[in-house]
Amino acid sequence: MVGDRVKHSLSPLLHNAVAISKDLPFSYQRTAILPGAFKEWALSERSHFLDAFSVTVPFKEDAYEICAALSQSATICKSVNCMIRREDGSYVGHNTDWHGFEEALYHHFDARFDFKLPVAVLGSGGVARTAVLVLADLGFKEIYLRSRKQEKAESFCESLDGALKELGDAKLVPCTTLPKREFALCVNATPLGFNKEDPLALSEEEILRSAYIFDMVYKQRGETALVTRARELGTQAASGKEMLVYQAAAALIFWHEAIGLYGLLNYEEICGYMFEAMDAAPKRRHVALIGYMGSGKSRQGRSLARDYNLPFKDIDELVVKKAGKSIAEIFATDGEEAFRDLESKALLEALEQDEPSIISCGGGLPLRAQNRKALQLHALTFYLDVGADELKARLKRSIERKGSSRPLHADGQSLLELESKLESRQIYYEQCSDRIIEVKAGENAATVLHKIKEEL
Ligand code: S3P
Repeated sequence: MVGDRVKHSLSPLLHNAVAISKDLPFSYQRTAILPGAFKEWALSERSHFLDAFSVTVPFKEDAYEICAALSQSATICKSVNCMIRREDGSYVGHNTDWHGFEEALYHHFDARFDFKLPVAVLGSGGVARTAVLVLADLGFKEIYLRSRKQEKAESFCESLDGALKELGDAKLVPCTTLPKREFALCVNATPLGFNKEDPLALSEEEILRSAYIFDMVYKQRGETALVTRARELGTQAASGKEMLVYQAAAALIFWHEAIGLYGLLNYEEICGYMFEAMDAAPKRRHVALIGYMGSGKSRQGRSLARDYNLPFKDIDELVVKKAGKSIAEIFATDGEEAFRDLESKALLEALEQDEPSIISCGGGLPLRAQNRKALQLHALTFYLDVGADELKARLKRSIERKGSSRPLHADGQSLLELESKLESRQIYYEQCSDRIIEVKAGENAATVLHKIKEEL
């Protein structure tokens, strides 16, 4: 996903939930790009490692301009949120916000609107554009567009003239305050409500004059202030959570052919996995650390547990305790699979505990899809991303100092395979991580701890 402020987006959780649940070989990550730098990035080699990606604010219009082929919704909206790279390097662009908004309206309100009444859209950004066009397409004939500045509202409405004509010629009225009329539906397409201290996008009196309210803002836990207030006042209201899932699921359907997963996914199933992860996320009690052998999970886990006064669980230690022998002995006598079974069991037991804890996972634990799923549903997971050279140096030092307790890197010779092993695991680490902590060569443990705490 590409945007300028993508840090707190829920999209990686949703897409990775599908990858994990179906054990598919893709991962979905965030990339922050500076405002104004998107086109250059997308057209340069720096983006070529991606087969497909989502585009979010403020780049959806730039994305539209550089796509060589566009779906109908993208053409009408002049905005693209879902891109697929073709073999020749050119892009196909879609707008799945359209689908997400329309589907969410049906889901919440069954689209039982009074089409004789006007509707209102608040805001003049990219999603306001999509909202206006979807409402015109649904059959509303009079749409009020409210923006803080009249000139902005007017230029926004003018820019939609052509598209509206194609969709049945709804009348779009720019304004800075809504007229004192009854509305079939009011849509908040401003960011008001993302921050706790934001005022409500509609006054109580405006809420009471609207039969339905749709707030495109969403909150991970509970409802937005606008939806809560509207419901208290007896107006049926819904926030943007479902819209987020529906647009993401539609994007995954567009991509799945491009990323080699054709026939492996269907829309309902995708939505189901996405809703499952979204509902579980705010209830997660534990913090888990994952990463390659030698990345510092146990050390950082101990420090976190000490600083937050929480129990610390090291999955390797739990396995050793249960088996009554060392990991090297388990590998040698019972084999790796037996070790992996014990490891999965210990993880589940730790995650099932009601008391919140800090959990350090063995480097191979995320290789099993069932473990990744358990982590995603029950723990906020940090991936300590350490480069191959640094890992090699650390493991070499550890082997020289005390011999190795790690059967997969028991001697210096085995470190030759570290790079390829790390590469094959990377996607699984990424899939189940909520936060990726990049650890630079030589960075001290206190600095890494600080970085983790900043994200908690
Ligand atoms: C392993 C990592 C080890 C331990 C076992 C296998 C792996 O844990 O679980 O030796 O496959 O990466 P650490 O990552 O804590 O060393």
